[in-house]
Amino acid sequence: MNNKQESDFSANISGVENPLRFGIIGAGARGAGSFGTMLRKHNGAVLAAFCDPNRLRAERAAARLEVSVNIYDDVRQMIACEKLDAVIITTPDCFHEENALAALESGVHVLIDKPLATTVHGCRNIIEAAEKSGKIVMIGFNLRHHPVLCKLKEVIDSGAAGRIFMIENREFYNGGRGYMARWNRFYGRSGGLWVHKGCHDFDVFQWLLGFPRPLRVGAFAQVSVLTPDNLPFTLRDGVRPGPRCHQCPYVEDCPDCVVVRDLKGGPWDDDAVAFDGIAKDECIYLSDKDTHDNGIAIVEYEGGIRASHLECFITPLNDRQYTVIGTRGQIEASLEQRQIIIRPRWGGEVITHQLPPNLGGHGGADPKLMKTFIEVLRGAQPNHTLLEHGMLATAVGQAAELSWRERRIVEVEELFR
Ligand SMILES: NC(=O)c1ccc[n+]([C@@H]2O[C@H](COP(=O)([O-])OP(=O)(O)OC[C@H]3O[C@@H](n4cnc5c(N)ncnc54)[C@H](O)[C@@H]3O)[C@@H](O)[C@H]2O)c1
Repeated sequence: MNNKQESDFSANISGVENPLRFGIIGAGARGAGSFGTMLRKHNGAVLAAFCDPNRLRAERAAARLEVSVNIYDDVRQMIACEKLDAVIITTPDCFHEENALAALESGVHVLIDKPLATTVHGCRNIIEAAEKSGKIVMIGFNLRHHPVLCKLKEVIDSGAAGRIFMIENREFYNGGRGYMARWNRFYGRSGGLWVHKGCHDFDVFQWLLGFPRPLRVGAFAQVSVLTPDNLPFTLRDGVRPGPRCHQCPYVEDCPDCVVVRDLKGGPWDDDAVAFDGIAKDECIYLSDKDTHDNGIAIVEYEGGIRASHLECFITPLNDRQYTVIGTRGQIEASLEQRQIIIRPRWGGEVITHQLPPNLGGHGGADPKLMKTFIEVLRGAQPNHTLLEHGMLATAVGQAAELSWRERRIVEVEELFR
């Protein structure tokens, strides 16, 4: 395995007297908003720098966080000047690979937000660089730290449902319609939503099932609703909608208008967008896009296990709902309800686990991910998100993309040839 798991790193870095120095590559929602906020509050870590080609955006993100950090547009320069221990990569997905290679070649540990990379080829390059450098690389698979999914894993591992042969996840993500307002809607930037979003779910399947090898994938997907002919308001003669929500004359009429926080003077206002064209509030109906707004993917694993993953971004809900079926019973889980129900197959007591409410971003998963990364760096626990896991999650997502675009069942193996 390529990930360094041993504890020698802790020898020269211990406790709050010697805080770890972090740099964040990509000072956007996830970089500044999630990790920046968590690092700022952590007394065993220092947020030393941002690296972002959009300097204005990074400066504004730093101002919003109320931190004084140096800002770079070159990863190698940032690492050399700031004497960093680790970097966190939160760029658009298509740039994960180049930034991970630069960081590893510069000799720092890395947390790469999901997906590891948008292709198997990219994942392989990161794995090779990680092996050469001997540095720790963790993946931002925060769902593995979600309290409901941790409990679900515990229940599956206890054998309460016997040998698992089917698993289903239905993801209803109201917020996902916002993908069509941002870079995420482009296959070239995100790898498509089966990679960008689905990699979370394919990783969870593998993790819950004990890492069976995925064999083949069939997927169906489409943009069914977020097209110009489905605008949810009536057009007035001669008044054109869009192109961005904050400029749109129908902002009061549109139930799907995307509101970006303090747009004037913030990281996503017109000045910052002028630099790279990356906006957050393109009209989700009018924006050009080449990924889906709903779809279903089916995966067959070795050992006779089947999984299905539905993802729908046209919905009033924000929930992931799981059904897991084994030889001895069936388990249902809902992240939103924070509930797990176990139904034994031949009768017996139905057991319900009700978990406590949210504590932190992504249902409490983000603070646990951050804490885990810091503990892994200090040698206090092993790294469980192996890069091979990240590569398999990308492989299933990439296979699903190929499947719906080329209308065929894709053998996962073909991506590794
Ligand atoms: N684990 C999760 O739950 C989760 C949730 C949301 C997003 N993500 C991941 O986080 C990453 C960032 O997503 P986001 O929503 O924060 O995006 P964002 O658009 O808010 O931020 C991206 C930032 O990267 C910067 N950037 C663009 N190109 C760059 C480059 N080549 N080098 C350095 N910086 C660059 C942009 O200027 C911007 O500041 C993505 O990989 C996404 O998949 C993970």
